[in-house]
Amino acid sequence: MAVGIFDSGLGGLTVLEAAQKRLPDVDFIYLADSEHAPYGVRTADDIYELTCAAVQRLFDAGCELVILACNTASAAALRRMQEGWIPEGKRVLGVFVPLIEALTERDWGDNSPPREVDVKHVALFATPATVASRAFQRELAFRAIGVDVEAQACGGVVDAIEDGDFILAEAMVRSHVDALMRKMPKPQAAILGCTHYPLMLDAFQEALGADVKVFSQANLVGESLADYLTRHGDKIGSGEPAYLTTGDPKQVSNRATQFLRRQITFTAA
Ligand code: DGL
Repeated sequence: MAVGIFDSGLGGLTVLEAAQKRLPDVDFIYLADSEHAPYGVRTADDIYELTCAAVQRLFDAGCELVILACNTASAAALRRMQEGWIPEGKRVLGVFVPLIEALTERDWGDNSPPREVDVKHVALFATPATVASRAFQRELAFRAIGVDVEAQACGGVVDAIEDGDFILAEAMVRSHVDALMRKMPKPQAAILGCTHYPLMLDAFQEALGADVKVFSQANLVGESLADYLTRHGDKIGSGEPAYLTTGDPKQVSNRATQFLRRQITFTAA
């Protein structure tokens, strides 16, 4: 029995890990499209095609439900997939909504009209494609009014993380936070809108200062997946747990093992 988790690369492992902790009896098939990462600098059409191919691979492996543990795919492709691509009976969920529900203090699936919330100034850090899609602002507008969002496209951070170059990634995080704070000097909250960024959580928090509440997705998505599966147990699917990659399995396994500090073995997708 397995739920599919997809990311362009290794960032979705932050979501996978939280989901495994929250749901120890559920198996997961993780797919990293390492050959085509990063997605954040690609066009929306390209991201759509690549995401459909990856999700199809997870359906073929027996998954009924696939989590897009990738904001870039959730922002640029999910809506289009839901409008006509997803096969009957299958389900694909993104990572945006749980985060926005947490920010706007809503319960899962609360679809009441938008209302005023405590947080008024929000910094969004995400990939260039996610920022360009404006999907975060769109989803937020369904739930909250009067929130000022300043978005910073964090070019280069995902590449540095995928290359295992954390010194470069940290320097880039500092410079992106500086750039954001020139536009919005006092954000009350910051959203890490890319599943790679929790790996740099300390660098973001330090650069932003202790007063800024930093929201990152992993635990929020774990919780909402648990909630979803209690209501849709039939979506657990079949298939054996696995780590699949479209890239070089040896290299991807080494990086993943370094990130999660436990042995992770990828095989070819
Ligand atoms: N980790 C992904 C995200 O959440 C993808 C980053 C990328 O491939 O550029 O956006």
